[in-house]
Amino acid sequence: MPANYDNSASFYDRLSRLVFGRALVNAQVYFLPFIPKNSNVLIVGGGTGWILEEIAKIHPAGLQITYVEISANMMALSRKRNTGSNQVNYINMAVEQAKLPQQFDVVITPFLFDNFNEVNLSVILRHIHQTLKPGGIWLNTDFQLTGKWWQAVILKSMLLFFKVVCRVESWRLPDVAKQFNTNGYKVVDEKTFFGEFVVTRAYKMHVIGNDNTAISAGKRIG
Ligand SMILES: C[S@@+](CC[C@H](N)C(=O)[O-])C[C@H]1O[C@@H](n2cnc3c(N)ncnc32)[C@H](O)[C@@H]1O
Repeated sequence: MPANYDNSASFYDRLSRLVFGRALVNAQVYFLPFIPKNSNVLIVGGGTGWILEEIAKIHPAGLQITYVEISANMMALSRKRNTGSNQVNYINMAVEQAKLPQQFDVVITPFLFDNFNEVNLSVILRHIHQTLKPGGIWLNTDFQLTGKWWQAVILKSMLLFFKVVCRVESWRLPDVAKQFNTNGYKVVDEKTFFGEFVVTRAYKMHVIGNDNTAISAGKRIG
């Protein structure tokens, strides 16, 4: 059963700011200037939707945004956001069930993948991968463990909390970087926040031809 953030929608942002200050926001906005003008953008797991307002500060108009969020309560809050003159198509369902064409110049997955175990992560990442145009950019932000003891303590506390409140399925972080690598993506830029506990990466695929096929570690995929 997928995680359901309905129960946390009303306090999610306040709790996040209480624990992490602005770090989670700063990480998610860091690469937003990479979004080209007049582009087609997919956001998956945007939570309460504040990222729509941050995007509108950079591009007040001209974007076609598809906003996929599984939680009805998160979606209700997102719909109230000031999105400028950008066009937003709100889809309230699990992204893996949404039929999305390969039309996006930019895909954004902010703290989405730490909800999944390795098997489900592989399915969902591949599903989203099919929606990115050749040459498109994928902005992913997640937690990571870099060996500092306090990271493991915060992570376990968060997973326990969200397992009880939102039924998050995993007890540990999946290897997101490995999954991107397996699917042929290369990191074009990255930045860490909050003592390296948070990492945001801009990925691109090595594209050959007109579709999302690529050579990764000598292996043809896609
Ligand atoms: C950890 S929260 C992060 C929210 C937001 N990105 C933020 O940092 O404030 C993860 C979000 O992903 C959504 N989500 C989880 N699984 C999803 C799925 N399969 N499809 C779409 N959204 C999903 C949850 O409802 C939740 O709003």
